Amino acid sequence: MTNYFDVSGKTALITGGSRGLGRMMAEAYVRSGVKTYITARHADVCEQTSKELSEFGECIAIQNDQSTLEGVHALADEIKSKEKHLDILINNAGTGWHAEFEEFPEAGWDKTFNLNIKSVFFLTQQLTPLLAAEASVDKPSKVINIASTDALWVPTDEAYPYPASKAGLLHLTRKLAHKLVKQHIHVNAIAPGAFASEMNTMARDEPEMVGRFIPAGRIGEIADVGGTAIYMLSRAGDYLVGITLTLDGGVVWATSNRLDDSEA
Ligand SMILES: NC(=O)c1ccc[n+]([C@@H]2O[C@H](COP(=O)([O-])OP(=O)(O)OC[C@H]3O[C@@H](n4cnc5c(N)ncnc54)[C@H](OP(=O)(O)O)[C@@H]3O)[C@@H](O)[C@H]2O)c1
Repeated sequence: MTNYFDVSGKTALITGGSRGLGRMMAEAYVRSGVKTYITARHADVCEQTSKELSEFGECIAIQNDQSTLEGVHALADEIKSKEKHLDILINNAGTGWHAEFEEFPEAGWDKTFNLNIKSVFFLTQQLTPLLAAEASVDKPSKVINIASTDALWVPTDEAYPYPASKAGLLHLTRKLAHKLVKQHIHVNAIAPGAFASEMNTMARDEPEMVGRFIPAGRIGEIADVGGTAIYMLSRAGDYLVGITLTLDGGVVWATSNRLDDSEA
């Protein structure tokens, strides 16, 4: 029987793959036979993650700061020096900044937009030749941009650039999908809900409490985002172009349909 979800033998780059959602997708890929590059600013954490994941397959750590254009070019150059073709780029590294509206600093705005959207554009631009190298109608390469459910509604916390950058990322996804589909590079986005991580300490530290506010009854796990990343990389995901896959256990759906039977 054809395994439409087979991804073995492919090559992936996951930015911010040292921990959190990036690490979950990296583990799913490495366990499925994907040669997986992961990046982060902290070399020690990235190396440790690659060491742990290398028990299941091939995982290579690259220390890199993507918040500057120099960092983006250095990363693209390093991947180009090692690979002749890339099957998937997952733009996962992201950041946020919370501050009161009246005092919100320019540094917080720039940090968030530089990493969450500017670096996504330029890294995709720089890696397009590598993604296109062996891509065809029957074997498209992929880009997945990791956005957030905060792009789909108006969060009530004091985070201003984060939801704006993620909403912009969804539009950039559609624009890049249109531009790159002719080169057989299919660009899509995932909008995750609550997953345990250093960014979402509430989900990490109080998963049962957070889970009570989610229609599915729990926070997201490695099988959810890892399985979705496998699907989108595999033959089964080849017909997805320019879409946003909401991966949140039903929160946005329930909210947009005014279904309020959770404990919220
Ligand atoms: N967790 C959630 O509930 C959730 C929900 C919706 C969306 N998301 C999105 O999912 C993505 C991953 O989030 P997460 O929760 O897993 O966050 P996380 O635990 O904070 O992980 C962020 C990753 O990005 C790396 N990173 C941060 N700044 C970087 C930079 N300038 N250059 C290169 N790498 C950098 C971090 O490593 P270093 O610190 O060593 O650089 C780390 O590997 C983000 O785009 C986030 O917006 C998360």
